[in-house]
Amino acid sequence: MSSIFTSRDLGVADFRFHCIGCGDLGDHASQDFRCSQCGDLLEITYPQWKEARPDAAKLKSGWRERKVSAKATDQSGVWRFRDLLPALKREEDAITLREGNMPLCSRITGVPRLFAKHQGLNPTGSFKDTGMTVAASFARLAGFRWVACASTGNTSASMAAYAARGGMRSLVLVPEGKISWSKLSQALDYGAVTCQLKTDFDGCLRLLQQLVLQAPVYQLNSINPFRLEGQKTFALELLEQLDWEPPDHIIVPGGNLGNSSAIGKALVEMNDLGLIPRIPKLSVIQAEGANALFRTLREASGKRLISVAAETRATAIRIGNPASWKKAAHVLEVTNGVCEQVSEIEIAQAKAEIGAEGIGCEPASAVTLAGLKKLVKQGFVKPDESVVLVLTGNLLKDPNFTIDFHRGDLFKGTHDESAAARLNALRHPPVVLDATLDAVIGTLEQAEKS
Ligand code: F0G
Repeated sequence: MSSIFTSRDLGVADFRFHCIGCGDLGDHASQDFRCSQCGDLLEITYPQWKEARPDAAKLKSGWRERKVSAKATDQSGVWRFRDLLPALKREEDAITLREGNMPLCSRITGVPRLFAKHQGLNPTGSFKDTGMTVAASFARLAGFRWVACASTGNTSASMAAYAARGGMRSLVLVPEGKISWSKLSQALDYGAVTCQLKTDFDGCLRLLQQLVLQAPVYQLNSINPFRLEGQKTFALELLEQLDWEPPDHIIVPGGNLGNSSAIGKALVEMNDLGLIPRIPKLSVIQAEGANALFRTLREASGKRLISVAAETRATAIRIGNPASWKKAAHVLEVTNGVCEQVSEIEIAQAKAEIGAEGIGCEPASAVTLAGLKKLVKQGFVKPDESVVLVLTGNLLKDPNFTIDFHRGDLFKGTHDESAAARLNALRHPPVVLDATLDAVIGTLEQAEKS
């Protein structure tokens, strides 16, 4: 297998690949982005920061100045922070859809100082765009014609869009019948070759890891460390929005565990560089039916992965064998965060509550609010502490879930059917009426009373 990704070949020698297992440091990575010595995952590091630490005040003012620039890389909420990303030789090499720039919404119900940062407002509707702009740009620089990913839907949508914008072909492996139609339709529209495989996400990812060793395709899953570098900018943008005053807690959903790893890496780097005075606690929430990290920490003290056969209606996080579990376990440890799990009913309730705030998100994102409620009950989050929920995907990503919920069909035929009755007050089912004024006014009067 050739070793084709080198920082030097790309004309930039400012970063290195560091193995999280054996610590090997090099400027080469192979096509599966695994350590050639021990097979563990790689992360990108910047040794020159040790020799010449970037000036925190200069970085902050530079990032502020770029906000009013018309340059594509300055308008991107990812590349605006390019000083802390792997360097492109030329800025025109960035494939950008002006990703990032995600609003921070305040006044969410529950905890007085509760914010939600909506990654679902990215160009393809999920946080994947912030990582994809970086990794797709490096794929093109490395001369690839094809990029590929395994996905529960959002990665494939994002990858297909960035590949199309960058003039590359894309290959998508998704579990048949287990991803939402909206996400699938995005991949189709952006021109991906889309394979619905008769397996789950974990099976798709296993196959992809074999494929990239045999075919000239560039892997764009979050095993790819360039993805995580782009996803770091969530934390940079968040802290800038908070005027560099860290919140007490950041709460993120956990699936394949790339996003939590990226955000945690960013927090540690920002602290090391003097951009923030302390590190917020980063906590990960999983669905009970896809709780590999939760169990790994509880039952194996984070020492070995406990895989699970994943099942949840929050299909984005229906993952039983998360690739980045070691990275995530590490960031929870260094940020003093925890991992919690939430039930299907708790997810549905939290999603409806976020929707009722006029914000909206997909089910996998709603685990954050459901998890927060548990963490407040357990006393881990104090009522007066500041909390940021990471909303990872747009409401429109999974309309079936929302419609089934409001129609009262979400839990029909499941063992949660009777317990779900307590969510009835949150349901707003559509009504079919005769097209008369009386019928509409009658409905309005009835709604006013309820
Ligand atoms: N939220 C949404 C909306 C997602 O799409 C995903 C992952 C996650 C949370 C979990 O993030 O994997 O970094 O821990 N979706 C991937 C995909 C797996 O293929 O779209 P993670």
